[in-house]
Amino acid sequence: MKAKLTLHKEFAIGETDRRIYGSFIEHLGRAVYRGIYEPGHPEADSEGFRKDVIKLVEECKVPIVRYPGGNFVSGFNWQDSVGPVEKRPERLDLAWMTKESNRIGLNEFASWAKKAGSEVMYAVNLGTGGPETARNVVEYSNFPGGSYWSDLRKSHGVQDPHNIKLWCLGNEMDGPWQICHREAKDYGRVASEAAKLMKWTDPSIEVVACGSSGARMPTFGDWEETVLSEGYENFDYLSLHQYFDNRDGDTKNFLAKSLETELFIKTVTGICDLVQAKKRSKKQIHLSFDEWNVWYHSNDQDTKIEKWIESPPRLEDIYTMEDALVVGCMMIALLKHADRVKIACLAQLVNVIAPIMTEIGGPAWRQTIFYPFMQASTYGRGTVLRGPVSSPKYDSKEYSDVPYLETVAVSNEAGSAADGKLTIFAVNRSLDEAMELDADLYGFEGCKIIEHSTLHNDNLLAVNGPKGEVVKPQTVQGGKLDGAKLSVQLPKASWNVIRIG
Ligand code: AHR
Repeated sequence: MKAKLTLHKEFAIGETDRRIYGSFIEHLGRAVYRGIYEPGHPEADSEGFRKDVIKLVEECKVPIVRYPGGNFVSGFNWQDSVGPVEKRPERLDLAWMTKESNRIGLNEFASWAKKAGSEVMYAVNLGTGGPETARNVVEYSNFPGGSYWSDLRKSHGVQDPHNIKLWCLGNEMDGPWQICHREAKDYGRVASEAAKLMKWTDPSIEVVACGSSGARMPTFGDWEETVLSEGYENFDYLSLHQYFDNRDGDTKNFLAKSLETELFIKTVTGICDLVQAKKRSKKQIHLSFDEWNVWYHSNDQDTKIEKWIESPPRLEDIYTMEDALVVGCMMIALLKHADRVKIACLAQLVNVIAPIMTEIGGPAWRQTIFYPFMQASTYGRGTVLRGPVSSPKYDSKEYSDVPYLETVAVSNEAGSAADGKLTIFAVNRSLDEAMELDADLYGFEGCKIIEHSTLHNDNLLAVNGPKGEVVKPQTVQGGKLDGAKLSVQLPKASWNVIRIG
């Protein structure tokens, strides 16, 4: 099979925002307790945070981490999570039917994020909470001092403000499963007022309003338009969430699902621009794709979890080779819309539908999906290039005209010799055939292939585990770059990173 790509250095979609390589940690399952935090573990530091987990997070270069939820946040009182640990209340979490000890809270998590080289993207509660609790937590976190909430922070031993710049206005408020789910107009008004008070408290912050929790929600479209109409000038970003599964074992169809990611982005962008036009506003709303991943392997076992225990293992999907391809395709979809997607969070980061897993008392390890995420975050920063792609196509159960080749390229003029000037990310969706990829790379003449790395396993259900990695990138030899003409071979069903420098 043959495919062709044409790139020119000057034909750009836009600059990547580093925050598209964000992730997410919720008080859910073993993400926090017995995940990032495991006092007594041989790798635990003085605060109880696992250094081996931090190392893997650093490997992924995660610039922001959304916290503390997720569904959890809609019933969460942030004040429970600050102050002397022994005085913090133990609460019932109605989102996941567990017990929450509040041993880890806002200040501890901010400290963890700093250690992991990341910034906090904090979600406020707009379920049981409202504008007042939202503005109070901004004052507690960001106000330098001399006010009730900032002085309370200082009395808790945190002298310097956290300066959290990015705030989510609740979570998935369109979903009937959400604690205190709201209608669009109601949510739009509350979110707008909350945003106003939060920004009056700290004008330097940016806020993300909740879009739909999925493009298949019955209210999708109307929800976005109504919410934006209520608070357009107070919002900066609108959120999108999307999870895919292969419950029916139809891999051809599964690998095509990222086409829906692109359609979702295009549709929401259109709605944002429609409301902008109706408002005659100069402001453009950008997108925060703040939950995305594959999620289904753990669904059945999670129905058996006992209620009201602390941090039971939940959503512990063990990811396969084919899941890594879907994650790679979704990552490419986000990059292809770098002009509008400014924030994205792979959901989640540790133990809960996560690229990083931990054994209690044992090692931390990399899932298959770790690799496309880590490689995109490492090599996919710079200018996203737009180029015509010509690829054979196929039809699947739900999609037609699916290109076998999914690809995007990111150039980085300032790239070092080792990192490269241009990176091409490419997935060969064919389950049967390798692909000859020919590319014309105008403006990159004189460069060489630094590395062609591929993630491939003949067994699409191969998984990694604590004892070893079956699925990990390998270097492919044999690619050629002659002047502007690149020619490489992409193994069947593979994720590829071709670095030119
Ligand atoms: O990421 C797991 C859950 O998925 C989050 O809590 C919620 O926002 C979404 O439905």
